[in-house]
Amino acid sequence: MNLPHKATIIEVGPRDGLQNEKQFVPTDIKKQFISLLKAANISEMELTSFVSPKWVPQMKDAQEIVNSCLDDRQNIVLAPNHKGIARLKETDCRSVAVFVGVSNTFNQKNINKSTTDSLLELEPLIDSLKQEHYFVRACISTAFYCPYEGKMNPESTLNLCRSFAEMGVDELSVADTIGMAAPMEVYTLFSMLLDKLESILLTAHFHDTRKMALANVLAALQAGITRFDTSAGGLGGCPFAPGASGNVATEDVVYMLERMGISTGINLDTLCEAIDVIQPHLSRPIESGVYSLKSRT
Ligand code: HMG
Ligand code: MG
Repeated sequence: MNLPHKATIIEVGPRDGLQNEKQFVPTDIKKQFISLLKAANISEMELTSFVSPKWVPQMKDAQEIVNSCLDDRQNIVLAPNHKGIARLKETDCRSVAVFVGVSNTFNQKNINKSTTDSLLELEPLIDSLKQEHYFVRACISTAFYCPYEGKMNPESTLNLCRSFAEMGVDELSVADTIGMAAPMEVYTLFSMLLDKLESILLTAHFHDTRKMALANVLAALQAGITRFDTSAGGLGGCPFAPGASGNVATEDVVYMLERMGISTGINLDTLCEAIDVIQPHLSRPIESGVYSLKSRT
């Protein structure tokens, strides 16, 4: 197999993991969760998002989370528009993630704009962020399938990725939003993106709706991807993507990679302690293999 020696985990639990939880998770619990994730050696993390609290009430404490959880690691905050980026610039956070769907219908439901209008709004914003030396990541939603439009054409995904690459973003996080991609599709798309988009960080973001996420991680590794968005406890899902369940669980990915000799630097015991803290505040049980076994022993 074609495998790297090292892989980077980008923890998205505090953002993607929690945004779909209907019951508000107390801010102090979120802070403890983030702090333990950092203690487990997570080096890059999506902390929260500057979105409308009317659309996503769980993220209404974003300002406080950012103000109290920043350190010298890669702390990323999502922002979809002008207002989100203005809010970000009022903080000391230096890394931002914008997000746009390949599917126009999904983008409309998620951000209340067409994909083209989102790009038009984001282009000057990204330009100013880059001039001010922010790290900019672009999350490409519905890169494989859309809950409304079905299968996406890989060329459309490539074109959206290319638009962001031309705007000068540092990273593209390419997402299987509703967990419908199969390993060959993953291998083919990521091989194409790696081939066509040089000198940009490419990250894979898998949801585990159909339990294919670990197989998809392996397929992406084979294509040459070494960066993975994952969520502690396998929490997650987008409120505007019906059928999207949790992200692939960080602990399962770390376990699989380490067993394959691919170093992540992450401490599984401390990671499970982070899940212990958040778990009583969630509406559903944690189903990841590694955590389920640990909590029984
Ligand atoms: P809108 O209603 O069209 O916004 O929503 P608007 O510009 O018309 O403004 C309406 C009100 O919202 C105004 O307040 C604005 O100030 C406020 P009012 O005057 O009524 O009091 N507003 C904001 N407030 C805070 N932060 C902001 C902001 N913008 C406007 N940034 C909007 C448009 C984008 C705001 C809304 O659609 C929204 O918040 N969407 C976010 C949806 C979301 O968070 N989705 C989940 C994240 S994406 C994801 O999970 C996918 C990913 O994981 C990858 C994958 O798996 O695919 C990344
Ligand atoms: Mg997601």
